[in-house]
Amino acid sequence: MKGIILAGGSGTRLHPLTHALSKQLLPVYNKPMIYYPLSVLMLAGIRDILVISAPDQVDTYRALLGDGEQLGISIDYIEQDEPRGIADAFVIGADYIGNDPVTLILGDNIFHGPSFSALLAEATRDVSGCVLFGYSVKDPERYGVGEVDAEGRLLHIEEKPSRPRSNLAITGLYIYDNEVVDITKNLGPSARGELEITDVNIAYLKQGRARLVDLGRGFAWLDTGTPESLLQAGQYVQVLEQRQGVRIACVEEIALRMGYIDAGACYRMGVAMGKSDYGVYLMDLASGRQQGQP
Ligand code: DAU
Repeated sequence: MKGIILAGGSGTRLHPLTHALSKQLLPVYNKPMIYYPLSVLMLAGIRDILVISAPDQVDTYRALLGDGEQLGISIDYIEQDEPRGIADAFVIGADYIGNDPVTLILGDNIFHGPSFSALLAEATRDVSGCVLFGYSVKDPERYGVGEVDAEGRLLHIEEKPSRPRSNLAITGLYIYDNEVVDITKNLGPSARGELEITDVNIAYLKQGRARLVDLGRGFAWLDTGTPESLLQAGQYVQVLEQRQGVRIACVEEIALRMGYIDAGACYRMGVAMGKSDYGVYLMDLASGRQQGQP
């Protein structure tokens, strides 16, 4: 299974914050936004990860994450020269994906909730077709929207409908079998000139091979699209981290718990960030003084 983090786009709704810096590098409380989607892929057990970003930002991502070796994973980078749509990830990333299944996550999506690792492990096992994740929101018209029957079977998907058939937003986490590459190749651009992820999902739905997992109400899927929602996402992370004394989306901790790195490597990364609380957390974790869950 390959993983892709889509971290391009122009972030216009966050200007001037995103004039010179990619949205997915902005802080969400105490870490860059991209740590959150990266942690999701790592929790899913995916160790080959492609970061797609705008040409002027690739070097910054590389400076932040390197080749991933320090986390026991492999990270590659490809430029998207202009935002041609979310599904463009499967055109740009076709060679990288090769013959493997692939999980795509949008670089600005934040997920947090109980038993998420188990859910991801189940969803990424023996993928046939696609697995989408739904989440009830009060403003579904801002998202891709799914309609399910009484048994939870997916009946209909629509992108930003003016009259949504349900409150179930399709989140920015998508798991596909390898056919996604061919499906996207045969897809034309939408009315707004983009390769739409919703059109890919509709193709799977028509084949009867799309599954939707409802994340449920105990889960947090946070928005980062406006200054208000970005601040709220940071506050959510702050409240949980300070109350429980554990970190959300601490990629070094996940690497340690998944067995990708040993305690010594974790400790050394903590030392390198020594003066920050984050660095102290890593050192404590490596010395067995932190018992929390990622
Ligand atoms: O967040 C979930 C929603 O994401 C889904 O419910 C929608 O179905 C899906 O279309 C998408 O909606 P958005 O309105 O958030 O899409 P947007 O065009 O803003 O792109 C989402 C992220 O992907 C954004 O951070 C920028 C990045 N992106 C987008 C495009 C179109 C790229 O990196 N390259 C692109 O070409």
